[in-house]
Amino acid sequence: MPQSPLDPKGPAARVLYELLSLQTYLAIAVGVFIAVASIYVIYRFREKPGDTGEPPQIKGNHKLEILWTLIPVLILAVLAVPTVRAAFVLAAPPRDAKALNVKVYGKQWFWDFEYLDHKFTVGNELVIPVGRPVNLTVTSTDVIHSFWIPKLAGTIDVIPNRENKIWFQADEPGEYYGQCKEFCGASHAKMRFRVRAVPQAEFDAWVQKRVAAQKYEAPTDAVLARGEQIFMKEKTCYACHAIAGSNAEGQVGPNLTNLGERKTLAAGLMDNTADNLKLWLKDPQAIKPGTSMPKFADLSAQDLDALVKYLQSRK
Ligand code: CUA
Repeated sequence: MPQSPLDPKGPAARVLYELLSLQTYLAIAVGVFIAVASIYVIYRFREKPGDTGEPPQIKGNHKLEILWTLIPVLILAVLAVPTVRAAFVLAAPPRDAKALNVKVYGKQWFWDFEYLDHKFTVGNELVIPVGRPVNLTVTSTDVIHSFWIPKLAGTIDVIPNRENKIWFQADEPGEYYGQCKEFCGASHAKMRFRVRAVPQAEFDAWVQKRVAAQKYEAPTDAVLARGEQIFMKEKTCYACHAIAGSNAEGQVGPNLTNLGERKTLAAGLMDNTADNLKLWLKDPQAIKPGTSMPKFADLSAQDLDALVKYLQSRK
């Protein structure tokens, strides 16, 4: 179950999981008590042979009234302690930890992650160091979304013209699945993303590579150069997508600077293979209904191949 909050892998998710467990166990205890008490009363005061007319009627009982007011008050008081504690834990990452700061842009239907400490942006796949808190500032440029990585954190609303904050931390390396959790249009269910948690050294190397890639290097290979020509001149790709350092600075679609190193396409929908990328370019509507990505069905097989190779060479 890649998207289960019942399998927490970090401190923020664990706090929520513990709170949920406590509430669930208390609710089960209350439910069982009420069920047993109801069955007992039904059995104990059932009609017996020889009973005539209405049984004696009792009106008001102060002791009982006080008791069944006090018990819920006590249960809520017990719940309040960990709830308040959780609210404080979730409000901000631990002060002594050096947090990674990332700005998240939710858009119909993908995500861009801007690494504020290192000044670069990647689309749909968030790479983070294991064991370090990640401070997210989330916002939207169209409608309301909700950002959720079930194994790592609770949800946070992604609202236009507003910046919300959430933090989380992954304790184990691995790939975590994320999902938009607020209905946001036709392809809401297909607004996914991935979080890849890697050891600090690996993360540092990745950041270095990303920072270096901010300077655009034009391809020298003939096929890749043909792909670049299609992307930057013949088709309108550059108007909607950004490739760092190049003339492509569009913000309508996901950032493609590192498309070649991503594991997935179309916001976590498909494996990043040449065949899948071709399917996507030929008919994105078939894969993600409502997307603003136009069809490029008129490209010759050769040009399509060049465009795909060019995109996949961006790492
Ligand atoms: Cu974005 Cu649902």
